Amino acid sequence: MQQDLSCLTVRITPVGESLIASPKLTLIQSLEQQGVQWPTSCRSGTCRTCTAQLLSGHVRYEMAWPGLSAEEKADGLILPCVAFPVTDLVLNDPFLD
Ligand code: FES
Repeated sequence: MQQDLSCLTVRITPVGESLIASPKLTLIQSLEQQGVQWPTSCRSGTCRTCTAQLLSGHVRYEMAWPGLSAEEKADGLILPCVAFPVTDLVLNDPFLD
């Protein structure tokens, strides 16, 4: 069964509700449209303020190499200010770390 790509969901654990994410917007843009607070600064993939732990799902980047090492990416870290959701996502709440 193919997923409806116009209506992806993002769940922020451990308590967060499921939110809607557009594959055409950065993750931060989708979250902010729904009133979700997320730490940000540069919004260009360099400062790492927005770094998130992706627990499941996939994102894509339009920039050649966002400010994460290959090891960090392999460990599931993402930069929501420049990451576009490709599938439904589950993220750790950034304020609980
Ligand atoms: S806000 Fe700077 S990397 Fe995302």
